[in-house]
Amino acid sequence: MTLVLGVDSSTQSTKAVLVDAEDGTVVDQRTAAHPAGTSVDPRAWLGAFDEAAGGLLARADALAVGGQQHGMVALDDAGQPVRDALLWNDVRSAAAAEQLIAEMGGPQACAEAVGSVLVASFTATKLRWLRDHEPENAARVASVLLPHDYVSLHAAEAGAEAFTDRGDASGTGYFDARTGAWRHDLAAAALGHEPRLPRVVAPGATAAVTAAGAPVGAGTGDNMAAALGMALAPGDVLISIGTSGVASTVSSTPVADGTGTVTGFADATGRYLPMATTINAAGILDLQARLLGVDHAELSRLALAAPTGAGGLVLSPYYGGERTPNRPDAHGVWTGLTAATTRADLARAAVEALLCSLADAVDAVVAHSGEEPRRILMVGGATRSPAVRALAPAVLGRPVLLPPEGQYVALGAARQAAWTLTGGPAAPEWPAADCTVLEADPTPDVREAYAALRDAAPALP
Ligand code: XUL
Repeated sequence: MTLVLGVDSSTQSTKAVLVDAEDGTVVDQRTAAHPAGTSVDPRAWLGAFDEAAGGLLARADALAVGGQQHGMVALDDAGQPVRDALLWNDVRSAAAAEQLIAEMGGPQACAEAVGSVLVASFTATKLRWLRDHEPENAARVASVLLPHDYVSLHAAEAGAEAFTDRGDASGTGYFDARTGAWRHDLAAAALGHEPRLPRVVAPGATAAVTAAGAPVGAGTGDNMAAALGMALAPGDVLISIGTSGVASTVSSTPVADGTGTVTGFADATGRYLPMATTINAAGILDLQARLLGVDHAELSRLALAAPTGAGGLVLSPYYGGERTPNRPDAHGVWTGLTAATTRADLARAAVEALLCSLADAVDAVVAHSGEEPRRILMVGGATRSPAVRALAPAVLGRPVLLPPEGQYVALGAARQAAWTLTGGPAAPEWPAADCTVLEADPTPDVREAYAALRDAAPALP
């Protein structure tokens, strides 16, 4: 049996899956935790890779790594980190994003140049922050990698040259996905001098080999890997509820959304991945469970015991600042609390807020993709919540498909690894997962109440 290893180096952990290259059946899997925080020593990810993937590597005929998008891994001349990596959910570079957009000629010009209007997540903004806040560290930067590039390089034989793919590169803010070329000028403008950037490797190509001679694929960003793992087709919208909330779809045409709601990333197959991302997602439920002093099962039970609309209680859940809508300085806002508000209402409002924010993301992606949505699929840890399952089709106003639980980012990386072995023009076909169909009567009032608070919140004292 030919086996391939797919690795997901995500915000919170590394997950490694060893799968049958013929049909994607998982034969073994391991995980290892990452340190918490939005500024992290990237060497910790290498340790987590060794822990999760180390025991599986010898059995793999090829491997590839998917990873959290956008972060900044800034390396010195010796290839050592000059400081901790700044992650995609670190919002300290929000002002730098504004500056760079202005320098590029405004939001639309920025979107035309690099596919997206920059927000604090993008690597370019972190380089600018470094230039302005830590000039000594900035001066020592010789090369800049994305998190998955750094882990891939570690997996490759010693002396390999750094590499990336167009999917993850499209989240840097200094890559043009339409031409597939780095914008070295923009990287230099952000950092103050030109850093070395990794080689961009084509989908399905072998980027390097391991010490044992197994091919290493280009790897990609986690959202691109999830799309590959799910075999997303045009007309499919994938909602992923993890640390971030994401709505994405694949498209053969690039997006340049000057409003900044939809990022025009490239995917891992040669197409594009229009996407809307929220910074607050599963964490909304984590916080609510903590505030109510309950576990997730009880939070879900409480939410399902409350009426639709949570008795008029509405939450704007942008606790840690938000990206969709772009409000880096926002906090959470509750309205409609009365003497009659119950714990169940509090639980319900949190679940409804999460789903409304994702519904906004879905609408944005659909509006820009030019594709009528055919299927909405939902993955991620929060889909274990019975309340999320029950309320998602109601809030989204359409049926939602729930694939079996799986490590879709790692599976996507594994599929890319299998592609290096076939060398074909497209990734190998694996049987599609059997999805559960979730259905419910639409509850448009819930979205209207959420939209009213969302639009009013910036003006609230
Ligand atoms: C997407 C984004 C997040 C990270 C999470 O633009 O920032 O989804 O990729 O790892």
